[in-house]
Amino acid sequence: MFLTTGRLSKVLQLTLAVIKPDAVAHPLMLEALHQRILDNNFVIVRYKDLMWRRRDSERFYAEHSERFFYQRLVEFMSSGPMRAYVLAREDAVRHWRELMGPTKVFRARYTSPASIRAQFGLTDTRNTTHGSDSPESAQREIGFFFPDFSADEWMEKEEPSFRSGLIHYDQENKIHTLSTPS
Ligand code: RTP
Ligand code: MG
Repeated sequence: MFLTTGRLSKVLQLTLAVIKPDAVAHPLMLEALHQRILDNNFVIVRYKDLMWRRRDSERFYAEHSERFFYQRLVEFMSSGPMRAYVLAREDAVRHWRELMGPTKVFRARYTSPASIRAQFGLTDTRNTTHGSDSPESAQREIGFFFPDFSADEWMEKEEPSFRSGLIHYDQENKIHTLSTPS
């Protein structure tokens, strides 16, 4: 697949997307969500499969530590494998959150029936995906999941080529890479 300059003319933004354990448990659902990312014109910059220890979960969700759902949430997020993505697109943070739909699955089914959470979510905790809620959170969360990836460096060195050059989807590695001139 080739994305041309016309479609990617604005500066790309990075966001962190996670497919949560409820969805990764079902290989077909995982495959469908990966395809959904591609169908919605996100560039897959990195992805990895991983599993959290409980303390990773507690650290990541520290901002929610006073909320009634915190224990349930940290337990769930360290209960099985997940898949994390660094995605790029213009306005990636907003677009990915829009595609996920509202946090609460029943609300998602009523207000955004085409959203991921409406279609795949099980409960308000097991709601299929996570997405950073601001560019600042994205920066922090990308660092949390991908400590070897420098968002600043990618923006400086890679973003202009991804935006203006031809990129292609590498079927084997399931990420986008710059096309090398043949
Ligand atoms: P996320 O962080 O996962 O992208 O979701 P979000 O911004 O839409 O929701 P947030 O308020 O940040 O909550 C983080 C996650 O906590 C779980 N949660 N459970 N009422 C509940 O039981 C409840 N509320 C939130 C969800 O897994 C939510 O995604
Ligand atoms: Mg959130």
